[in-house]
Amino acid sequence: MGTDEELKELVKEKYGQIARQSSKQKAGAGCCGNGPNTIDYSIMGDDYKGIEGYFNDADLGLGCGLPTEFANIKEGETVLDLGSGAGNDVFIARRYVGESGRVIGIDMTQDMIDKAIENNQKLNYNNIEFRLGEIENLPVENNSVDLVISNCVLDLVPNKEKAFSEIFRVLKSGGRFCISDIVLNTILPDKLQSAAEMYAGCVAGAIQETDYLDVIKSSGFSNIQIVKEKNIKIPSSILMNYMDLNEIDEFKKNLNPIVSITVVAEKN
Ligand SMILES: C[S@@+](CC[C@H](N)C(=O)[O-])C[C@H]1O[C@@H](n2cnc3c(N)ncnc32)[C@H](O)[C@@H]1O
Repeated sequence: MGTDEELKELVKEKYGQIARQSSKQKAGAGCCGNGPNTIDYSIMGDDYKGIEGYFNDADLGLGCGLPTEFANIKEGETVLDLGSGAGNDVFIARRYVGESGRVIGIDMTQDMIDKAIENNQKLNYNNIEFRLGEIENLPVENNSVDLVISNCVLDLVPNKEKAFSEIFRVLKSGGRFCISDIVLNTILPDKLQSAAEMYAGCVAGAIQETDYLDVIKSSGFSNIQIVKEKNIKIPSSILMNYMDLNEIDEFKKNLNPIVSITVVAEKN
């Protein structure tokens, strides 16, 4: 579909657009892209309402899980959120780490960083920081973080080995991660796999669940556990943009072809 760099440019463009649009109209317009072929994230995301630390302006409806729910975040910890968007999970993590902890959000899209900083100015936290940067080359010191979280982002990173090796590098010994992400249990039909909208919508960049767990293991992590898994149903109205009815029927015969997982693991 393109080189890694081209794919990342596509992702930056799409999420920049979403961030800019969210300033004009309330999120929930949080679809990926704005055309008829877009994926509405409400088919993926969990409901954040009622969660302590939740800040409505930071919720652009772009997640596919609730990583803070299984992260066992403690007061005083340093938490790093990868692909932090407008800061949704950062502000929730801040609720747990309190005054004595620290939360850092990293995102490669300048408009998302601007939006997150604007949100933090409204909340006035002085132990939150948003940094522009890439997950494959994290602007974070070695062995400096207690917990890495991430919500629906690594599926957008072409080089997953590099992403998990960077997570391993920045975690302290005894540190852990809790990541929600999209993975596959089938080979995607070519027409879905090669659609740019499907890449930016977190589907076409996803890899097989078994391969995903292998990458985590070979990056050096232990105690790897999937703590939540849910089926993601892409509506036929979207699939029809890429496949004919027979192909859609064939695709639907797969049991849970696209799933969202929340996975935890430790660095010993
Ligand atoms: C689907 S959104 C999720 C945003 C946020 N985690 C949330 O749940 O609201 C993906 C975000 O990851 C960022 N992103 C994607 N690939 C990245 C990379 N390689 N490095 C840093 N950020 C990246 C995008 O700019 C975008 O803000």
